[in-house]
Amino acid sequence: MISADLVVQDCRRLVTCAGPIPKRKASLQDVGPAERVWIASSKGKIVFIGKEKDFRKSVRLERSAVRLDAGALLGLPGFVDSHTHLPFAGNRVEEFRLRLQGYSYQELAAKGMGIQTTVKATRRVTKRDLLALVLKRLDRMLLNGTTTVEAKSGYGLNRRDEIKQLEVLKEAARRHPVDIVPTFMGAHDIPMEYKTRKNAYIDLLIGEIIPEVSRRKLAEFFDIFCEEGVYSVEETRRLAEAAKRAGFKIRIHADEFSALGGAELAAEVGAASADHLISITEQGIRVLSRSETAATLLPSVSFFLMLKKKAPARRLIDAGAALNLASDFNPGSSMVESMLFVLQLGVYILKMCIEEALNAVTANAAYALRRHDSVGSLEVGKKMDMLLCDVPDYASLVYELGWNPIRHVIKNGRVVVRDGRILGEFWGHDPIF
Ligand code: NIG
Ligand code: FE
Repeated sequence: MISADLVVQDCRRLVTCAGPIPKRKASLQDVGPAERVWIASSKGKIVFIGKEKDFRKSVRLERSAVRLDAGALLGLPGFVDSHTHLPFAGNRVEEFRLRLQGYSYQELAAKGMGIQTTVKATRRVTKRDLLALVLKRLDRMLLNGTTTVEAKSGYGLNRRDEIKQLEVLKEAARRHPVDIVPTFMGAHDIPMEYKTRKNAYIDLLIGEIIPEVSRRKLAEFFDIFCEEGVYSVEETRRLAEAAKRAGFKIRIHADEFSALGGAELAAEVGAASADHLISITEQGIRVLSRSETAATLLPSVSFFLMLKKKAPARRLIDAGAALNLASDFNPGSSMVESMLFVLQLGVYILKMCIEEALNAVTANAAYALRRHDSVGSLEVGKKMDMLLCDVPDYASLVYELGWNPIRHVIKNGRVVVRDGRILGEFWGHDPIF
């Protein structure tokens, strides 16, 4: 008999998003739907998925086991958000107002607003206050279905404040049930103090900050903003190679506004993911799609910046890219914490089909973080990270807009959201810093 400490009983409809992963081309439409399914887990891992008859034959529930009746609910894997700029302070409402008057994101950045505004605010904030902000955001993400989130530093742009952001993430990960995958993004912009000495900043990153972050194991990935006026392809390559030597896996903000060839570079350096890709070229699509590098699209950026140009999701899928969707949550170009909304935008903005978008926020998003062995799909042996929603079938997650149908969230085999409310008393919000 298999022993279990949690069971989701009689799930009316289940979407597993089961492998093989990454899903490319037509297989991106396989979501593995089934009806009337029982799912059990033990110590956070799935031990059984199947019909009631087999459950009764093969699973023994521990005496204190938790039972959830899902007879009227749709079940699916917890969402994986593979790209966020989670630990920032302040906001950019003023900039938002200026954009509504017609200024573009890049025009404002050139005036010294944009990322630099958030750098100033984030340098000023204490660790304690930053932690409180991060924990609150994680709560809201969880309520909207995110159970694993990548989070980048990149608003410190100096040793002290980059490390401050990463330490806050580490403490948040210790307290909060959402799994955090930390990324060091000291190359998010060029700090004001180094505006005319970019090479000196790159030397500082390579010579001092990368080694320290690596030694202290504060991040798993290194990310670079490869963009006109930020880091060139050559500079990005140099940074990526140095970060790889220090043990980091690579992610690249590539071909967002200008087609510099960031996608090709990401494939060349073996990056885990190339992100944005709004301006990717035909050649970029070809090279990226034949590589192991995931293509991460961020439809909420096109939406939030009200851009006419969108990432070519269809062409990437047809070419065979390992495509996924993420929020890019940040104060300047995507104040979007909800992966449910990102799933919807994948369909409405990028014209993906519903099944493709579902795999893109679960299984393939886990691949973009190289966590597909443990999260992103509901399979025996993987983590019990599951959403239970009050909708008749999975299409309604996209068809019905403007409300949150996620009733319960299970993370690591523990019910952390019940009836739409966080059961957060056990992780507390009292900062220790
Ligand atoms: O992914 N493109 C660069 N970085 C962020 C924006 C950060 C900001 O505006 O604060 C992005 O869109
Ligand atoms: Fe980003």
